[in-house]
Order: sequence, then structure tokens, then C-alpha cells
Amino acid sequence: MTIALIVIIALVVLAALTVAATLRGRDADSATGRLERETLSRDRGTVTITETDVELPTGKEIERSAVVARREGSAVVKAQPSEITEWVAPDAEQVGASRRAFLNRSIIGSFALGLGGFGGGVLAFLWPPFITGFGATISVGKVSDIIQSIRDAGGFLYRPDGRMWITEYPAGAIEKARGVYSGPELAGMEAGVIALFQKCPHLGCRVPECLTSQWFECPCHGSKYNRVGEKRGGPAPRGMDRFAMTVSDGVLSVNTGNVIQGPAIGVNTTGQEAEGPNCIGEATH
Ligand code: FES
Repeated sequence: MTIALIVIIALVVLAALTVAATLRGRDADSATGRLERETLSRDRGTVTITETDVELPTGKEIERSAVVARREGSAVVKAQPSEITEWVAPDAEQVGASRRAFLNRSIIGSFALGLGGFGGGVLAFLWPPFITGFGATISVGKVSDIIQSIRDAGGFLYRPDGRMWITEYPAGAIEKARGVYSGPELAGMEAGVIALFQKCPHLGCRVPECLTSQWFECPCHGSKYNRVGEKRGGPAPRGMDRFAMTVSDGVLSVNTGNVIQGPAIGVNTTGQEAEGPNCIGEATH
């Protein structure tokens, strides 16, 4: 508190000094015929010529000598004759036109500049961002290789670059799936795979796989999903969210910038039951 008071007082004094110095400077500026202290001290060091050193002429003497010089003609420099040209007024039309042209160009230039800036901003906004990893479309690889990797990993393939799980979708369930899922989901499912967002739709925890039950089981509040992300238990409001997929020449691409909401509670296209003990107990909330 005391320190703050001292700082405030110091600031007030500083401000007062600054104002006083400014006013003084202004006074000095407006004064005419007044020598600065620095100039006076400099002059003090120089030699001063006084009337006792040199006898200076008086004002009358100077005037008298000027009159004499003028009479004798020595002080007047005669002007040389020069060619006189007639003054021609500038063309009013031309002056007006150039002023108009200047104004027109200024307006057009400003307009073009503004329009260019706006256009640039719009282009920058619409231009597809150069992103890689999560949020971008990720080429995962050949579907046949992916299925092999899933099997090698025990039923679940994790891709950290896309924050996603990739699992197999059984061919026998595809007819049922066609009545539930959208085209971008079915594109991968019909090829035999599905890409699921790792984030739990309940409160956003990362959902891990459970190798014993062959389900996904959330450790936060116990939500459970079958291997294709359809909800089987817990407080989650729906199945696991998933990504739009495309398959071209047998290569799977997953658009991680396009998250599709998981299926509603009750959707169970594969009918997969827990294949062993669960990793997580019942829901805690
Ligand atoms: S965050 Fe997964 S169940 Fe709550």
C-alpha cells in the first residue's frame, strides 16, 4: 500500500515536471529576441568589440554616405535590359481536367485497393488449409493390408495420426448396416473396415480397446461399445463417432475433418456380444 502511494506520488511529480518543462519550452519558443542561456554563455567567451577599440560610424554618417553614393551612381546597379514575354493564363479546361483525372484515379485506386484486400481475405478464407494428420484426409493404405494389420493387432488397429481406431466390419452385417449408416460410412464398411473416432461421446475420454471382450470400454464412466462402435452399455448418449471414408483402387482414405455422429442407442447391426471378460466394470456415474 505504502509502495503504491510512493509510486503514485512519484508519477504525479514526474507528470508535473513534464508539464512544466513543456510549458517553459513553449514560452521560450514564443519569445522573440531573447537569447538562450547557452548562447549567452558562449558569447561570454568571445572577444567583445567595444566603441573604445574601434571608432564606429554613427547612424547619421551611414545614411549620409549612402545618399552620396546614390547620387554618384556607384551604389546603384543598373538593370540589364531583358526580353519581356507576355503572360498567358493557363488553360482552365486543362487545369480542371487534370484535377478531375487525379481525383478519379485516386478514387479508382482506393476502390481497387480495398477490393483487392477483400478478395485476398476471401480467398485466404476459402483456400483449403494445408493440414496433415488429424483434421486432414489420411490415406491409410490398401484395405487388404489394413485388415491383415487389424488381425495381427488382435482385432483393433490404432492410428494416432488420425486419433482413430480401425476395425473390421463383418460382411454378413452389411445389409443391416445399409438401413442405418450414411454413404460416407458405408464406403469403408462395404470394403470391410470402419474408422472410429477415439473420443468417447459421453465426456470425451479416449476409449481404449478391450482385447478380452473384443469391445471398446471407456475407463472414465464405463461406457461400452461393440467392435464397430455401437453402444452396448454405460452413460454414453450414442455409439462412437466415426469418420467419412472413401475407397479408391483398394486404398482406404479417412477424412478426419469430417466426424459423423455415432449411431443411436439400440443400434446393433453386428449383434456382437462380449467375447470374454470385460476390462471395465459397470458404469460409475
Ligand atoms: S467419458 Fe466415456 S463413459 Fe464417460
